[in-house]
Amino acid sequence: MKKYLNIALPKGRLGEKVYKMFDKAGYSCPEILDDTRKLIFTNEDLGVRYFWVKPSDVAIYVERGAADIGVCGKDILLEYQPDVYELLDLNVGKCSMAVAGKADFVDDRQGTLRVATKFKNIAKKYYAGIGRDIDIITLNGSIELAPILDLSDVIVDIVETGTTLKENNLIVIEKFVPISARLIANKSSFKFKTEIVEDIREKLALITESLW
Ligand code: PRP
Repeated sequence: MKKYLNIALPKGRLGEKVYKMFDKAGYSCPEILDDTRKLIFTNEDLGVRYFWVKPSDVAIYVERGAADIGVCGKDILLEYQPDVYELLDLNVGKCSMAVAGKADFVDDRQGTLRVATKFKNIAKKYYAGIGRDIDIITLNGSIELAPILDLSDVIVDIVETGTTLKENNLIVIEKFVPISARLIANKSSFKFKTEIVEDIREKLALITESLW
Protein backbone atom coordinates (compact mmCIF):
# COMPACT_ATOMS: atom_id res chain seq x y z
CA MET A 1 0.00 0.00 0.00
CA LYS A 2 1.29 3.44 -0.92
CA LYS A 3 2.42 5.63 1.98
CA TYR A 4 0.88 9.05 1.80
CA LEU A 5 1.63 12.14 3.78
CA ASN A 6 -1.71 12.67 5.53
CA ILE A 7 -2.66 16.30 6.12
CA ALA A 8 -5.60 17.34 8.33
CA LEU A 9 -7.02 20.74 7.47
CA PRO A 10 -9.72 22.60 9.44
CA LYS A 11 -13.01 22.47 7.57
CA GLY A 12 -14.35 25.93 6.73
CA ARG A 13 -13.11 29.34 5.67
CA LEU A 14 -9.75 29.10 7.42
CA GLY A 15 -9.13 25.67 5.89
CA GLU A 16 -9.67 26.96 2.37
CA LYS A 17 -7.22 29.80 2.99
CA VAL A 18 -4.70 27.36 4.42
CA TYR A 19 -5.15 24.90 1.53
CA LYS A 20 -4.29 27.75 -0.87
CA MET A 21 -1.02 28.21 1.03
CA PHE A 22 -0.23 24.48 0.63
CA ASP A 23 -1.13 24.80 -3.06
CA LYS A 24 1.26 27.73 -3.45
CA ALA A 25 3.91 25.67 -1.65
CA GLY A 26 3.63 23.09 -4.44
CA TYR A 27 1.35 20.59 -2.70
CA SER A 28 -1.77 20.98 -4.80
CA CYS A 29 -4.88 18.85 -4.88
CA PRO A 30 -7.33 21.03 -6.83
CA GLU A 31 -10.51 18.99 -6.37
CA ILE A 32 -10.38 19.80 -2.65
CA LEU A 33 -12.04 23.12 -3.51
CA ASP A 34 -14.89 21.46 -5.46
CA ASP A 35 -18.38 21.84 -4.08
CA THR A 36 -18.70 18.30 -2.74
CA ARG A 37 -19.37 16.48 0.53
CA LYS A 38 -16.19 14.43 0.11
CA LEU A 39 -13.77 14.63 3.03
CA ILE A 40 -10.61 13.00 1.62
CA PHE A 41 -8.62 14.18 -1.40
CA THR A 42 -5.49 12.55 -2.77
CA ASN A 43 -2.74 13.71 -5.11
CA GLU A 44 -1.19 10.41 -6.19
CA ASP A 45 1.75 12.06 -7.97
CA LEU A 46 2.82 14.06 -4.93
CA GLY A 47 1.88 11.33 -2.46
CA VAL A 48 -0.22 13.65 -0.31
CA ARG A 49 -3.69 13.10 1.05
CA TYR A 50 -5.74 15.90 2.58
CA PHE A 51 -8.76 15.57 4.82
CA TRP A 52 -11.23 18.10 6.12
CA VAL A 53 -11.62 17.81 9.87
CA LYS A 54 -13.68 19.77 12.37
CA PRO A 55 -11.23 22.52 13.46
CA SER A 56 -11.20 21.51 17.11
CA ASP A 57 -10.45 17.86 16.14
CA VAL A 58 -7.32 18.48 14.01
CA ALA A 59 -4.94 18.13 16.97
CA ILE A 60 -6.46 14.76 17.94
CA TYR A 61 -5.90 13.36 14.42
CA VAL A 62 -2.31 14.58 14.46
CA GLU A 63 -1.52 13.52 18.03
CA ARG A 64 -2.76 9.97 17.36
CA GLY A 65 -1.03 9.73 13.97
CA ALA A 66 -4.17 9.48 11.79
CA ALA A 67 -2.74 12.63 10.20
CA ASP A 68 1.00 13.28 9.90
CA ILE A 69 0.61 17.03 9.91
CA GLY A 70 -2.26 19.47 10.27
CA VAL A 71 -3.29 23.03 10.85
CA CYS A 72 -5.11 24.17 13.95
CA GLY A 73 -5.61 27.28 16.04
CA LYS A 74 -3.29 28.15 18.90
CA ASP A 75 -6.43 28.20 21.09
CA ILE A 76 -6.79 24.44 20.66
CA LEU A 77 -3.10 23.86 21.44
CA LEU A 78 -3.33 25.96 24.60
CA GLU A 79 -6.56 24.36 25.75
CA TYR A 80 -5.80 20.68 25.11
CA GLN A 81 -1.96 20.69 25.14
CA PRO A 82 -1.75 17.83 22.61
CA ASP A 83 1.54 15.96 22.40
CA VAL A 84 2.53 17.25 18.94
CA TYR A 85 5.24 19.45 17.46
CA GLU A 86 4.22 23.01 16.69
CA LEU A 87 6.22 23.77 13.56
CA LEU A 88 5.11 27.15 12.28
CA ASP A 89 2.90 30.15 12.95
CA LEU A 90 0.99 30.52 9.66
CA ASN A 91 -0.02 34.11 10.46
CA VAL A 92 -3.62 33.56 9.32
CA GLY A 93 -6.78 32.99 11.33
CA LYS A 94 -5.70 35.76 13.64
CA CYS A 95 -7.90 36.54 16.62
CA SER A 96 -7.61 36.92 20.40
CA MET A 97 -8.67 35.04 23.48
CA ALA A 98 -10.59 37.56 25.54
CA VAL A 99 -12.72 38.17 28.59
CA ALA A 100 -15.99 39.87 27.62
CA GLY A 101 -19.14 40.90 29.40
CA LYS A 102 -21.99 43.37 29.56
CA ALA A 103 -20.92 46.98 29.13
CA ASP A 104 -21.92 47.86 32.70
CA PHE A 105 -20.24 44.86 34.32
CA VAL A 106 -17.60 45.69 36.93
CA ASP A 107 -15.81 42.92 38.79
CA ASP A 108 -15.79 44.01 42.44
CA ARG A 109 -13.66 40.91 43.22
CA GLN A 110 -16.15 39.88 45.91
CA GLY A 111 -17.32 36.25 45.84
CA THR A 112 -16.82 33.86 42.97
CA LEU A 113 -16.81 35.11 39.39
CA ARG A 114 -19.00 33.02 37.06
CA VAL A 115 -17.15 32.44 33.77
CA ALA A 116 -18.80 30.77 30.76
CA THR A 117 -16.45 29.33 28.15
CA LYS A 118 -15.53 26.59 25.71
CA PHE A 119 -11.93 26.98 26.89
CA LYS A 120 -11.99 25.97 30.55
CA ASN A 121 -8.25 25.31 30.87
CA ILE A 122 -7.28 28.62 29.27
CA ALA A 123 -9.81 30.45 31.48
CA LYS A 124 -8.63 28.68 34.65
CA LYS A 125 -5.01 29.53 33.91
CA TYR A 126 -5.79 33.16 33.18
CA TYR A 127 -7.78 33.66 36.39
CA ALA A 128 -5.27 31.68 38.48
CA GLY A 129 -2.64 34.09 37.15
CA ILE A 130 -4.53 37.09 38.51
CA GLY A 131 -5.57 35.30 41.70
CA ARG A 132 -9.31 35.45 41.03
CA ASP A 133 -11.65 32.77 42.32
CA ILE A 134 -13.96 31.51 39.56
CA ASP A 135 -16.75 29.09 38.81
CA ILE A 136 -16.38 27.70 35.28
CA ILE A 137 -19.52 27.06 33.25
CA THR A 138 -18.57 24.95 30.23
CA LEU A 139 -20.60 25.60 27.07
CA ASN A 140 -20.09 24.36 23.52
CA GLY A 141 -21.13 27.39 21.48
CA SER A 142 -23.09 30.65 21.42
CA ILE A 143 -21.16 31.59 24.56
CA GLU A 144 -22.32 35.19 24.21
CA LEU A 145 -25.77 34.20 25.49
CA ALA A 146 -24.45 33.41 28.97
CA PRO A 147 -24.00 36.93 30.43
CA ILE A 148 -27.13 38.18 28.68
CA LEU A 149 -29.25 35.50 30.38
CA ASP A 150 -27.32 35.86 33.67
CA LEU A 151 -25.94 32.36 33.37
CA SER A 152 -22.51 33.91 33.91
CA ASP A 153 -20.87 37.23 34.82
CA VAL A 154 -18.36 37.12 31.97
CA ILE A 155 -17.25 34.89 29.10
CA VAL A 156 -13.82 33.79 27.94
CA ASP A 157 -13.97 33.34 24.20
CA ILE A 158 -12.39 34.06 20.86
CA VAL A 159 -12.86 37.52 19.42
CA GLU A 160 -12.04 38.02 15.78
CA THR A 161 -13.90 40.96 14.23
CA GLY A 162 -15.82 41.76 17.43
CA THR A 163 -19.12 41.62 15.52
CA THR A 164 -20.68 38.85 17.62
CA LEU A 165 -20.02 40.77 20.83
CA LYS A 166 -21.24 44.05 19.37
CA GLU A 167 -24.45 42.58 18.01
CA ASN A 168 -25.19 41.14 21.44
CA ASN A 169 -24.36 44.34 23.34
CA LEU A 170 -21.26 42.91 24.96
CA ILE A 171 -17.79 44.43 25.19
CA VAL A 172 -14.23 43.16 25.42
CA ILE A 173 -12.96 43.52 28.98
CA GLU A 174 -9.46 42.21 28.25
CA LYS A 175 -7.73 40.51 25.36
CA PHE A 176 -5.10 38.27 26.91
CA VAL A 177 -3.70 35.82 24.30
CA PRO A 178 -3.16 36.41 20.57
CA ILE A 179 -4.27 33.41 18.51
CA SER A 180 -3.39 32.29 14.97
CA ALA A 181 -3.26 29.09 12.92
CA ARG A 182 -0.29 26.78 13.49
CA LEU A 183 1.27 23.98 11.45
CA ILE A 184 1.58 20.94 13.72
CA ALA A 185 3.17 17.52 13.24
CA ASN A 186 2.82 14.10 14.75
CA LYS A 187 6.05 13.35 16.63
CA SER A 188 6.85 10.04 14.98
CA SER A 189 5.80 11.28 11.51
CA PHE A 190 8.24 14.13 11.96
CA LYS A 191 10.96 11.58 12.64
CA PHE A 192 10.10 9.18 9.79
CA LYS A 193 8.83 11.59 7.13
CA THR A 194 11.23 14.40 7.95
CA GLU A 195 12.13 15.32 4.39
CA ILE A 196 8.64 16.05 3.11
CA VAL A 197 7.48 17.62 6.39
CA GLU A 198 10.51 19.93 6.46
CA ASP A 199 9.98 20.81 2.80
CA ILE A 200 6.38 21.81 3.51
CA ARG A 201 7.41 23.75 6.59
CA GLU A 202 10.13 25.66 4.71
CA LYS A 203 7.90 26.52 1.76
CA LEU A 204 5.01 27.57 3.99
CA ALA A 205 7.42 29.70 6.05
CA LEU A 206 8.37 31.66 2.92
CA ILE A 207 4.70 32.20 2.07
CA THR A 208 3.94 33.15 5.66
CA GLU A 209 6.75 35.72 5.77
CA SER A 210 5.09 37.64 2.97
CA LEU A 211 1.99 37.92 5.18
CA TRP A 212 3.72 39.59 8.15
C1 PRP B 1 -16.48 32.15 17.45
C2 PRP B 1 -16.46 32.71 18.84
C3 PRP B 1 -17.37 33.91 18.75
C4 PRP B 1 -17.14 34.37 17.31
C5 PRP B 1 -16.23 35.57 17.31
O1 PRP B 1 -17.62 31.38 17.32
O2 PRP B 1 -16.91 31.76 19.78
O3 PRP B 1 -18.71 33.54 18.96
O4 PRP B 1 -16.53 33.31 16.59
O5 PRP B 1 -16.05 36.10 16.02
P1 PRP B 1 -16.24 37.64 15.72
O6 PRP B 1 -15.48 38.43 16.73
O7 PRP B 1 -15.67 37.83 14.33
O8 PRP B 1 -17.71 37.94 15.75
P2 PRP B 1 -17.82 30.30 16.20
O9 PRP B 1 -18.14 30.97 14.91
O10 PRP B 1 -16.63 29.41 16.18
O11 PRP B 1 -19.13 29.55 16.68
P3 PRP B 1 -19.60 28.95 18.09
O12 PRP B 1 -20.68 29.87 18.59
O13 PRP B 1 -20.08 27.61 17.74
O14 PRP B 1 -18.44 28.93 19.04
